[in-house]
Amino acid sequence: MNTETCPNPTLDQGIESVGVGIDAQATDSDTINSFRYCCKNVPGAGCDIELFQEQHIGCACETCVPERCPCIQRFGETYRDFRLIDANFTSRPILECSRDCNCTKSCRNRLVQHRLQRKLKVVETHRKGYGVIAEEKIGKNCFVCEYAGEVISESEARLRWKLQSCDDSNYIFVLKEHTSTAINTFIVDPKNIGNVGRFLNHSCDPNLFMLPVRIDNSIPHLALFAKRDIEIGEELCYDYSGGVSTSQENISEIKNRKACYCKSLGCKGYIPYDSLLN
Ligand SMILES: C[S@@+](CC[C@H](N)C(=O)[O-])C[C@H]1O[C@@H](n2cnc3c(N)ncnc32)[C@H](O)[C@@H]1O
Ligand SMILES: [Zn+2]
Ligand SMILES: [Zn+2]
Ligand SMILES: [Zn+2]
Repeated sequence: MNTETCPNPTLDQGIESVGVGIDAQATDSDTINSFRYCCKNVPGAGCDIELFQEQHIGCACETCVPERCPCIQRFGETYRDFRLIDANFTSRPILECSRDCNCTKSCRNRLVQHRLQRKLKVVETHRKGYGVIAEEKIGKNCFVCEYAGEVISESEARLRWKLQSCDDSNYIFVLKEHTSTAINTFIVDPKNIGNVGRFLNHSCDPNLFMLPVRIDNSIPHLALFAKRDIEIGEELCYDYSGGVSTSQENISEIKNRKACYCKSLGCKGYIPYDSLLN
């Protein structure tokens, strides 16, 4: 997996700050070698490219502090010592300082934009295909990696979903954000173009959780943070449902329903999928 190859250099993809390790047995695999690595989201089929070109107005701070920085004040302070202050952030947006801000790269309100900072390794797992393990300790609330890939429309997602067989791995992720007036849907598919996040498996008792983070514009960065302290060698997993449970009646109707092998005590038996895809 070449983390230095970016599919569209005009989008300022850059390279990962830390290389991603690959298990020796996996290096020859077609899956590992066939997808193209991208560090952050790229526009895919049906996506409104203008969303990528928008730019939030930045701050004029020399040093951003919660008492004065408009970027921090807009939704409240999120990070302290370059980790989440609190894991219960699900109810409000997160906005980082961006390329339009006057502050430097070391600003306290910049974290996810620095990309991968931890050593991760792609390995073969028992019954789940590939997975990702931590190659260094990761503290609770630290940023681990993004789930990045092609941003696609709902109709494209349904088409891709239909073309998948029950045995295929699914990479399409649907984020639904509730505002006071609407539900906004954002879909990313890192199957063909994606980052290391595409190898993260589901667990019903995960050690990561996902939060949408905005940096330059309204396109969310699906950022994965440590739910607890993580030891070297632990497999990194998140809950694909984001914690929303599927009722048993619905479960039996879901196409491509797959058994979950997370082995957690509270395993629900199946991998969750978004209702949009079924
Ligand atoms: C986003 S991919 C994860 C990476 C994938 N394992 C691979 O080899 O590329 C999601 C797919 O991984 C497999 N998977 C993920 N979590 C699993 C789990 N808990 N139990 C069984 N299979 C799982 C399923 O095939 C699922 O559709
Ligand atoms: Zn700043
Ligand atoms: Zn700012
Ligand atoms: Zn499970």
